[in-house]
Amino acid sequence: MHTSQPGILADLPAHARYQAFNLLPQADPHEALRALARDAVGQQLVVGLGAPLLQRLEAGNRVPGLRPFVAPAASRVELPSTPAALWLWLRGTQPGELLLRSRAWRQRLAGAFELCREHSAFLHAGGRDLTGYEDGTENPQGEDAARVALLQGAGTGLDGSSFVAVQAWQHQLDRFEVLSTTEQDHTIGRRRSDNEELDDAPACAHVKRTAQEGFDPEAFVLRRSMPWSDGAGCGLQFVAFGSSFDAFEAQLARMSGAEDGLCDALFTFTRPIDGAFYWCPPVRPDGALDLSAIGLID
Ligand code: HEM
Repeated sequence: MHTSQPGILADLPAHARYQAFNLLPQADPHEALRALARDAVGQQLVVGLGAPLLQRLEAGNRVPGLRPFVAPAASRVELPSTPAALWLWLRGTQPGELLLRSRAWRQRLAGAFELCREHSAFLHAGGRDLTGYEDGTENPQGEDAARVALLQGAGTGLDGSSFVAVQAWQHQLDRFEVLSTTEQDHTIGRRRSDNEELDDAPACAHVKRTAQEGFDPEAFVLRRSMPWSDGAGCGLQFVAFGSSFDAFEAQLARMSGAEDGLCDALFTFTRPIDGAFYWCPPVRPDGALDLSAIGLID
């Protein structure tokens, strides 16, 4: 039986806020983490811990597989790495309520953590990117989703946990809008009108670059991305859960041109403006976060 944070496998919410926090110099994060572990219950919040936090807790090697995000060495595009100590994905139905909840977490964590990034996100047209293309079609479903997203067989404290790759992509929609419908469809590799996959799309089309069965080993992830906007900017808050970071890294390497020099056509109109990896701890039977793997036990 998996015991993941319920928000990972649940459907996307109508609205969300993503917060990333740095650890303050010399701060002791134990008390803030205990409060988080106790109160981060239910589908309303998903919590991820970054390598900088585990290092400070001297628990860096207690979560095998957690590492900072590093762009592929031979990448032909800029892929920023912006590590953070803590990541919160607040999920809800009302933007105002989410604003107040995010503010409350910021205040509660203030003794040890400071906010470094925040994006407000929303479901668009039933699960489409702002370009109008359906996102998430090839996601694994049901038990497959749990198998792909969650660690199993690693022992108590780790089983049910998940590794999440997070990147905010900023779109230049003007650049996409000037393309013809066919060019737009060939950028993604699917037809926007009916979501059909296009066999004749070029090799740089996004779904040709990332076809999960086209890797050896196969590279499946559970994507839970949502459009974001904050006034001047907008794009896709890309979020992919996995039982390791390997599948995400393989996909990004191919997208970035590191393998064969060919970059994903997405880069003609969008680019990531940040990038970080986190470990999402499992939950205990009482619903609280299980932080025993990193040595925090009530
Ligand atoms: C602005 C950024 C992105 C946009 C707008 C975007 C959009 C899309 C769309 C519309 C699809 C087709 C429908 C679907 O299967 O979901 C798709 C598929 C996919 N995307 Fe992205 N995506 C973005 C970034 C990424 C990144 C960074 C990765 C991984 C490194 C990724 C991995 C995938 C995968 C694995 C698929 C399914 C491929 C398959 O097996 O057919 N995407 N994406």
